[in-house]
Amino acid sequence: MMYLEQFSYLLASVLFILSLKMLGSAKTARKGMQYAMFGMALAIVITLIISGIVGPTQIIIGMVVGGLIGGVVAKRIEMTSMPQMVALFNGFGGVASTLVAYSEYIRFTGTEAMDVNITVILSLFIGTVTLTGSLIAYAKLQGLLPGRPLVLPMHQILNLLLMLGAIGFGVMNVMEPSVQMWALLIIGVAAIFGVTFVIPIGGADMPVVIALLNSYSGLAASATGFVLSNNVLIIAGALVGASGLILTQLMCDAMNRSLFNVLFGAVGTDDSTGEAGAPGGGEQKTVMRYTAEDAAMIMDTVQSVIIVPGYGLAVAQAQHVLHEMDQLLTARGIDVKYAIHPVAGRMPGHMNVLLAEANVPYDVLYEMDDINDEFQNTDVALIIGANDVVNPSARTKKDSPLYGMPILNVDYARTVMFVKRSMGAGFAGEANPLFFDDKTMMVFGDAKAVITGLVKALKADE
Ligand code: TAP
Repeated sequence: MMYLEQFSYLLASVLFILSLKMLGSAKTARKGMQYAMFGMALAIVITLIISGIVGPTQIIIGMVVGGLIGGVVAKRIEMTSMPQMVALFNGFGGVASTLVAYSEYIRFTGTEAMDVNITVILSLFIGTVTLTGSLIAYAKLQGLLPGRPLVLPMHQILNLLLMLGAIGFGVMNVMEPSVQMWALLIIGVAAIFGVTFVIPIGGADMPVVIALLNSYSGLAASATGFVLSNNVLIIAGALVGASGLILTQLMCDAMNRSLFNVLFGAVGTDDSTGEAGAPGGGEQKTVMRYTAEDAAMIMDTVQSVIIVPGYGLAVAQAQHVLHEMDQLLTARGIDVKYAIHPVAGRMPGHMNVLLAEANVPYDVLYEMDDINDEFQNTDVALIIGANDVVNPSARTKKDSPLYGMPILNVDYARTVMFVKRSMGAGFAGEANPLFFDDKTMMVFGDAKAVITGLVKALKADE
């Protein structure tokens, strides 16, 4: 039995590692998810059977009920609400670690060695911070709390005091392990810290925070693994902890911001519809407005189009009709490609997931570095609900929050076509000078309505 347990844990761990590797590419990501699901199911079933916690009937009932709830929620969730769902999952991971660590603590109060006590404390603290922090992130993204940064007076001092409090109670817990009050105080302080840690961060920065909390949930699970002496939990937790941290860093790099700035800079209005106005200090400039039919007429004369999807595509849920449009263009002999910016949308891989949902083939999707040189030889850069990721201010305007962020070189294309509802800025709140460029066509409207109009016009022209 012992060998079966260890072998299964080893197999599950290998599956987790392979799965992470496969998640690195859109082509293998689906299979990677299946590996991870199988590994997790194996780890759960073997743990429950070997430890004799519950019988096979309960295991099956539990997995069917849990699977059904998870399946229905995943099916019904809007793609734009995915960050909220991940936030809740992280919170569940955190509270699970806290509950397991606390029940182990109650079981062995006062009789465990100091190292076990320390891992219990870590698990309680990190697990609870993950829970309340994730709930705040969820509430901000769901609009239950204002998305803007909420900074209390002397906020960072409060955070420092809470951290010192947690360390103090932790030391007391190690010195007096049989006094349960210290463990409860650690949980209480951690619960408040989770709130005060996340609440000053702007709603639009939440995806980065969620990746960080994801990493914390892994660390909490890993600490719980040490409490239980469970190898697969230690390994899985460490993998989540490390990959969450790497993802956090990648997101910060792609936005050209430091993690410190995201966590403590109170940046982000989360107001992607705010009127940006004309850049350049009040100078009156006009934009050229076109209709979907005008856009279709232009498409009659071109040979190459690069589509740049952004957050607005997800909001409008226009991915299916967009794919219909790209197929119509391709059928006319036009070379159609998609350019994917690493932080387009509001979560990592947002555009890839969205386009995969509409069955856009992977081989027409190009990452920024692979396609940026092609814009200069392209007839039309068609920008659907994207703004910051194509804003040239990122190259030149030193006081812009976007300054230094690598962007897609759409302004090098012969014609630039924006599909969006208004002159509103994007996430960074930075006006986009490209709207006013002579070669830019603004097609105002909801992305789904405009692309549907474009498809209709293209079909009428056949
Ligand atoms: P944004 O710069 O936020 O621009 C999105 C644009 O979509 C808005 O200007 C908005 O203009 C338009 N839009 C909204 N709803 C629309 C609809 N129904 N139909 C048509 N257009 C619509 O998006 P982006 O270019 O994808 O850039 C992403 C931004 O988010 C970056 O600044 C990035 O740093 C930040 N961010 C990304 C992530 C990740 S990991 N992806 C995480 C955190 C932050 P209108 O209101 O005029 O329509």
